[in-house]
Amino acid sequence: MKQVLFLTGNVGKFHEAEVVFQKELPTVSLKQDSSQLVEIQSDDLEDVARFKLESFVKREGKPVSSCITEDAGFFVTPQLKGFPGVYSAYVQKVIGNAAILKLMEEVKDRRCNFQACIAFYSARTRKIVTFSGMVEGTVSFEQRGTGGFGFDPIFLPNEIPDKTFAELSAEEKSTISHRGRALMRFIGFLKENLDAI
Ligand code: IMP
Repeated sequence: MKQVLFLTGNVGKFHEAEVVFQKELPTVSLKQDSSQLVEIQSDDLEDVARFKLESFVKREGKPVSSCITEDAGFFVTPQLKGFPGVYSAYVQKVIGNAAILKLMEEVKDRRCNFQACIAFYSARTRKIVTFSGMVEGTVSFEQRGTGGFGFDPIFLPNEIPDKTFAELSAEEKSTISHRGRALMRFIGFLKENLDAI
């Protein structure tokens, strides 16, 4: 069985990706690797995902297995001009969802989106390819649900506007999520290029 390492310390991200792979490409297994990665500050998710991957491959200094990194963010547009965006992990850790709801108190235009970029390193070609995904929605008025992670309890996707991401199963979330969409693009690529692994 072919294997791809998912370089992430985030169990939520890994679980979602694993569920999509088991359903869409069961001949490839994903394995979590929580190695510490170097994360640059950039306003481009692709740059961050690529850099994390390149620095891991260089640091290992020996032929490494095929692997992926992913970078994602939550963008409140236009009200917060895209904040927290590339600062999402820090904002979530330090002030959390309650602070975002506070910033959005009495705001009518609650549009927001999630974006993700997956970078894939092919052990055979030694090249990196990237895949992006996005989902649009609105910021809820209160936190709801216990699933998922991060901003999921305050995100109402346009496709299912009465439920937050945290009220969906991992499988339901992935059919419309930024990560699910990026993963489906990646899986589409792998189906045509299985020997890249
Ligand atoms: P990073 O991609 O690990 O740098 O983190 C981005 C941050 O965005 C995460 O720590 C989460 O707080 C948030 N985030 C990314 N994807 C999701 C998601 O699918 N649901 C909720 N929050 C997310």
